[in-house]
Amino acid sequence: MTDTAGTGALPVEGVPAARVLDEIRALRAADRPTHGGRLFAYVYDPGVAGLDELAQAAHAESAHVNGLDPTAFPSLLAMENAVVGAAARLLGGGPGTSAPDVVGSVTSGGTESLILAVKAARDARPDLAEPRIVVPVSGHAAFAKAAHYLRVALDPVPVDPLTLRPAVADVAAAIRPETVLVVASAPSYAHGVVDPVAEIAAVAAAAGVRCHVDACFGGWTLPWLRRLGAPVPAFDFAVPGVTSISVDLHKYAYAPKGVSVLLHRDPGLRAPQFFAYADWPGYTMVNPVIASTRSGGPIAAAYATLRHLGEDGYLRLAALTRDAVAGLADAVRAVDGLRLMAEPESTVVCFTAGDPGLDLFVLVDELTARGWHTQPQLAYAGLPASVHLTVTAAVAPRVAEFGPALAEAAAAARAAGPVVLPPELLALAGSLTPEALTPDLIAGIAAGLGLDAGSAPDRMAAVNTLLDAAPVRLRERLLVEFVGLLQRPTW
Ligand SMILES: Cc1ncc(COP(=O)(O)O)c(C=O)c1O
Repeated sequence: MTDTAGTGALPVEGVPAARVLDEIRALRAADRPTHGGRLFAYVYDPGVAGLDELAQAAHAESAHVNGLDPTAFPSLLAMENAVVGAAARLLGGGPGTSAPDVVGSVTSGGTESLILAVKAARDARPDLAEPRIVVPVSGHAAFAKAAHYLRVALDPVPVDPLTLRPAVADVAAAIRPETVLVVASAPSYAHGVVDPVAEIAAVAAAAGVRCHVDACFGGWTLPWLRRLGAPVPAFDFAVPGVTSISVDLHKYAYAPKGVSVLLHRDPGLRAPQFFAYADWPGYTMVNPVIASTRSGGPIAAAYATLRHLGEDGYLRLAALTRDAVAGLADAVRAVDGLRLMAEPESTVVCFTAGDPGLDLFVLVDELTARGWHTQPQLAYAGLPASVHLTVTAAVAPRVAEFGPALAEAAAAARAAGPVVLPPELLALAGSLTPEALTPDLIAGIAAGLGLDAGSAPDRMAAVNTLLDAAPVRLRERLLVEFVGLLQRPTW
């Protein structure tokens, strides 16, 4: 029988709703598991029964509402203001605090929040021809993206290989007359350590420069962990000199994807974030964020999630997460040849291998083969390659299974031995410049690594080993080429 529907996105004849959903479910079967506490990156799962259904229903209520014009859709404005108020209050702002005039915006994610923090800082200084930002190398890559998009120069500050934090003196030394923003992380994504925010904010303030705290990852966990008794250093608006903070609700607030909050200490600091335009014949446009048309879905879903979980819900989830972190860290300590990059102080467990016989990239593949999905991080500037685990509340019931799985995967990785790449491939990685990469060379490298157009490989150790051997700029170029191979239209 001819299938007139075909498999493309735009069939000649429309496909019945139930079948379309079945098709999506069949595609989703190849994905990593978003729920169940076995995926330690990309997803944030509280493991709370009924929460997904609530968020989906709230999302559906507002999916067609447009944030383009807050006067046309006051429901969205009300929810956005409520969510921003909750984030501000959690992070040391609002009535009765030292930052009573905090304002904010909901963005699509951490990257957009960071781009806008950089834009606001840049546009507050139109006198500077070449604005610059100071960012510890442990700061999120989105700052580099912001610098690139906005033509702002990036002044990276190294981190201490033991503490994984920048030295405040190095931050101070990096500040120049053209610096418009200094960045601190609470915590850094890679290793989960909190920068010395108070000291960094002080040197920024002394220089008359804005200081952004990137709490995209930790802004919705550190306050609860502190309430539970953890020694969390001051990192929010309680710290003098902190001018803006970002916190992602689609991370530890457990809202569906598409929601972050960017807060500024006062409206004057936020003003240059906005873009308004009336010099055309269409509607007058004012956008607080990068997007113009914005779906109300993610904001409504975040609002519903926050209201449903409440402070007591987040405290309970933070306690579960804290205990899971401790259990996973113990599991790492129990395996010979593995060591923690840092003692966990937030919700990240990050480890490296101190033994050449235990190849971390092979270990990651062995864990994947056993249904545990971790995130490899390449060696960088004197820091060794490592494995990152973002820990969420849903991991708690899994912790007891993780230890044996890690030990077994480590034994399998030892038995398999380190990845051995063809010497000519390794030599290429060490010697090639990005400019020298030709389409033929790229095709050869991709074939050597078993990368096919249109599908991702099961085992990534060879790819990671090659990237690890390459200098940073070549890594970037290879990544662009590899992902370009995956992103091909299907007809
Ligand atoms: C500290 C930090 N900042 C920024 C981001 C970027 O967030 P997004 O992926 O939502 O753009 C992340 C993401 O993990 C992060 O951990």
